[in-house]
Amino acid sequence: MMFRFFPFLTTFAVAGLLAACAGDAPDNRSGATPMIDGTSIYATDEGQDRHSYARPLEARVTHVALDLNADFDEQRMVGTATLDLEVAEDGEEVVLDSKGLEIREVVNGAGEALRWEMGADSGDVHGAPLTIALDGAERVKITYASAPGAAALQWLSPGQTAGGEDPFLFSQGQAILNRTWIPTQDSPGIRQTWDARITVPEGLRAVMSAEMLTPEGEPVEGEPGRRAYRFRMSDPVAPYLIAIAVGDLAFQELGERSGVYAEPSMLAAAAAEFEDLEEMIDAAEELYGDYRWGRYDLLVLPPAFPFGGMENPRLTFVTPTILAGDKSLVSLIAHELAHSWSGNLVTNASWDDFWLNEGFTVYFENRIMEAVYGTEQAEMLADLGWADMMADVEDLGGLTSSDTRLHLDLEGRDPDDGMTNIAYEKGAVFLRTVEHMVGRARFDAWLRDYFDRNAFRPQTSAGLIADMDANLFQGEEAAEIGLEEWIYEPGLPENAVHVQSNRFRAVDQAIANFTDSGEVTVINWPEWTTQERQRFLDGLPRELDGERLAALESTFGLNDARNSEIRFAWLKLAIANRHDDARDSVEDFLLSMGRRKFVAPLFEALMAEGDWGRPFARRIYREARPRYHSVTTNTVDETVGTSDG
Ligand code: BES
Ligand code: ZN
Repeated sequence: MMFRFFPFLTTFAVAGLLAACAGDAPDNRSGATPMIDGTSIYATDEGQDRHSYARPLEARVTHVALDLNADFDEQRMVGTATLDLEVAEDGEEVVLDSKGLEIREVVNGAGEALRWEMGADSGDVHGAPLTIALDGAERVKITYASAPGAAALQWLSPGQTAGGEDPFLFSQGQAILNRTWIPTQDSPGIRQTWDARITVPEGLRAVMSAEMLTPEGEPVEGEPGRRAYRFRMSDPVAPYLIAIAVGDLAFQELGERSGVYAEPSMLAAAAAEFEDLEEMIDAAEELYGDYRWGRYDLLVLPPAFPFGGMENPRLTFVTPTILAGDKSLVSLIAHELAHSWSGNLVTNASWDDFWLNEGFTVYFENRIMEAVYGTEQAEMLADLGWADMMADVEDLGGLTSSDTRLHLDLEGRDPDDGMTNIAYEKGAVFLRTVEHMVGRARFDAWLRDYFDRNAFRPQTSAGLIADMDANLFQGEEAAEIGLEEWIYEPGLPENAVHVQSNRFRAVDQAIANFTDSGEVTVINWPEWTTQERQRFLDGLPRELDGERLAALESTFGLNDARNSEIRFAWLKLAIANRHDDARDSVEDFLLSMGRRKFVAPLFEALMAEGDWGRPFARRIYREARPRYHSVTTNTVDETVGTSDG
């Protein structure tokens, strides 16, 4: 597919759009934001995002109404999706994304059957186009069921929960997984309002990323064993942000507009860990403007949740692995909260510009951390981020690799491929570099207005450049900073601002001293924060003798570290040195949670250790794989394989 470049335009009629896009640009900097009836959507000149079959310029979904039954026995969502459409004058059909959906019937608003066709499945992440002939209809109602193995959904058995009594269901939509349970236009450049009615077995509670209209649920007529929950999202959101969880959930208020949902046995620990949440929201608003979503609640998921966190509007989903007992990992909450602006208000128009979501969010996250926990803490976190970035640069093949660009070209690739620390950390470093150049006052004023100007709209790299040129940079500043190089070229420009933590200097000294002497007394461990400990463990030479490893382990209790980041950093080091005493800890850790960030690198490390690691990895994976989410198994399958091999 060929894409073309045309400049960012704020208002753009469809006809004008089609006429205006002549001229090929090999670098694919699509920057169009056409407007249909005042609501902007992203579309290329061909009216489509490369990871969606939708043709929104012909017919676009504006509202999704779900009425679904969560069927735990069959592990399927079954029911209807009613879509409201905005149809172009000559629009004849609507094209939706779908993957594995079983379509039973499609009717118009009056209940009359419509012709539809399920196209060929791509055989990969894209799925298949569901095309419906409209025949004048502006509403379509689809009766369907998700497949039992739908990638967005994970159905947990009671044994996979903390309570052990009830099953659990959660969804993960980003990047293009929601098409496995909702037939809609699954592109982040499209926004839709939505509502839902979900029925679940009595005793379980349903929560969604929306206003919860029936917190306690309602009885369902004629179905004594079930309860119905209703939800409404009246702001237009990108479809990947529709999310659900069902389980034995309890709730505790944290502040005026914030609280936490968790399984009852986890609730107290969660509430203690996240006690600063309201303060974080205040700090975020102080920085970049009002929080626009009403409530901000957290949902602590069972350990199979494949990500650290997911910024589902009004209800961030988080892994229980951040419950460290000392609030030391709450920057993740600051991160997901920041997405309420960068990502959920201003949304990457396509996954090629994922960095617009994540780079801005990492920057904003760090500013929240600075405001709430102080400069030293923020500097340590930023410095760790820099190290993560450099590690990924190396993994991706060095500074000349095209995957080190902020704006990517993901044609023919899984959007997941773009989920590297380049988007996150190089993106944040870019913004710090801009901040450094124009000064914090000007930068903050611009960013606050940027969120306002672009609220509830998709954004592209080209659009950002145009916005910075129009509203931030003066004189030659854009050229001086190398704006285009930063966004479109691989590598790391020379002016990159590396925030260096002073506290880490002492840690680095301890690394040198310990490597030299093997004396644990040179390590100030008890006085260190989690971030200093991470710096220490990650900074040790990858080759360390058994004696030094044993000394570290016994002095600091690393095999039993409750802090997941510390445990992870230690196990990477231990595996690289084939440290036998860490084997039980490795096994326990990998069987205790399914967070991909921890699981994938540990399996990779084991597979790199020949006879010491490979059979061990395969044995653990055989047991662990059925407990992991498809997001995690898709990655680990590549390193370990699915068979006994
Ligand atoms: N939105 C992401 C998670 C995501 C990205 C899911 C792409 C699917 C596709 C979320 O905000 C995130 O970045 N989570 C990080 C934690 C964060 C502190 C860097 C994670 O899960 O590790
Ligand atoms: Zn994020």
